[in-house]
Amino acid sequence: MTDFNAVPARKPARPQFSSGPCAKPPGYSPDKLATESLGRSHRAKIGKTRLAYCIDLMREVLQLPDTHRIGIVPGSDTGAFEMAMWTMLGARGVTTVAWESFGEGWVTDAAKQLKLDPTVIRADYGQLPDLTQIDFSTDVLFAWNGTTSGVRVPNADFIPADREGLTFADATSAVFAYDIDWSKIDVATFSWQKVLGGEGGHGVLILGPRAVERLETYTPAWPLPKVFRLVSKGKLAEGVFKGETINTPSMLAVEDAIFALEWAKGLGGLEGLKARSDANAAALSKIVADRDWLGHLALDEASRSKTSVCLTVEGADADFIKKFAALLEKQDAAYDVAGYRDAPAGLRIWCGATVDTQDIEDLGPWLDWAYAAVKAG
Ligand SMILES: Cc1ncc(COP(=O)(O)O)c(C=O)c1O
Repeated sequence: MTDFNAVPARKPARPQFSSGPCAKPPGYSPDKLATESLGRSHRAKIGKTRLAYCIDLMREVLQLPDTHRIGIVPGSDTGAFEMAMWTMLGARGVTTVAWESFGEGWVTDAAKQLKLDPTVIRADYGQLPDLTQIDFSTDVLFAWNGTTSGVRVPNADFIPADREGLTFADATSAVFAYDIDWSKIDVATFSWQKVLGGEGGHGVLILGPRAVERLETYTPAWPLPKVFRLVSKGKLAEGVFKGETINTPSMLAVEDAIFALEWAKGLGGLEGLKARSDANAAALSKIVADRDWLGHLALDEASRSKTSVCLTVEGADADFIKKFAALLEKQDAAYDVAGYRDAPAGLRIWCGATVDTQDIEDLGPWLDWAYAAVKAG
């Protein structure tokens, strides 16, 4: 009989493995945040300077080319993506590509809210749809990294350079983890709460030149609330991309993002961030390879996520996973590792850059312990 009191000797030092909000950067502490901009108008010089600095740091760490604008908007990633959908869709046909819950959410909004009758290209959890089926004369919506299935597009090669429609990439769990060919992306969105380990609340909107052209030449048939409005008198509201936010931002969330971006810069920027999540994903893959009861939900390695890694557990249903995750949480060994509520029952372990590889390695024996404990009832 296994002795279930015999827990593994060593715990992950930081048991935060949630896929959003994700672990804070190593060494983070709220008292390390700059606070001069707090309690002041965000339109005062200090506020504007910090917002602009945050934008500059994002551009630098993302290696975003000058062709693309980047701005801070309300409503986290959802707010940024909805803003893009509501301001730009409807000018031509729409294709939505979905292979998990978040991509499916954009299908719902395009079909049921905007009533655009989109062409929908789907695949089940664990798979990528046939991307050669996409008609790029339409506007195309997809989530670069499907956070709830752990399946991502391997790169942007499926997008033609001479497309007529616009590409809208929900890149919230992809930016700062993969190389992105920005020439193929007309609109991208993300939130600081993912790979940067920042806070939710604000979204980041990236616009390529063709998206700006769309905004300046097309007016949607439906009304737009103030928080979505990116155009004034037929011209792009350029201030949004300099830190003149549409409405009041949380300067605390901005300072928190600046902390994360400075940490990222200290690692060598994008290359340093990618190296950390690659190492985490490799350490987790080794744990999976060593155990016949664990598997990857994403079978094809080329499209397997290196951030939101989703795992199958032999014989596990939703109840099993609930108990498994609760045991690990109670031991402070791992928090928030149950798969997403709409996904097949399994585990989801964040491997983004803010997680330390040693903590992934230390998780292995705890997974064994929890599996044996739940099986034994
Ligand atoms: C792919 C994807 N899209 C959208 C969201 C929603 O993000 P937010 O809550 O930051 O709006 C998430 C969050 O997990 C996500 O993973």
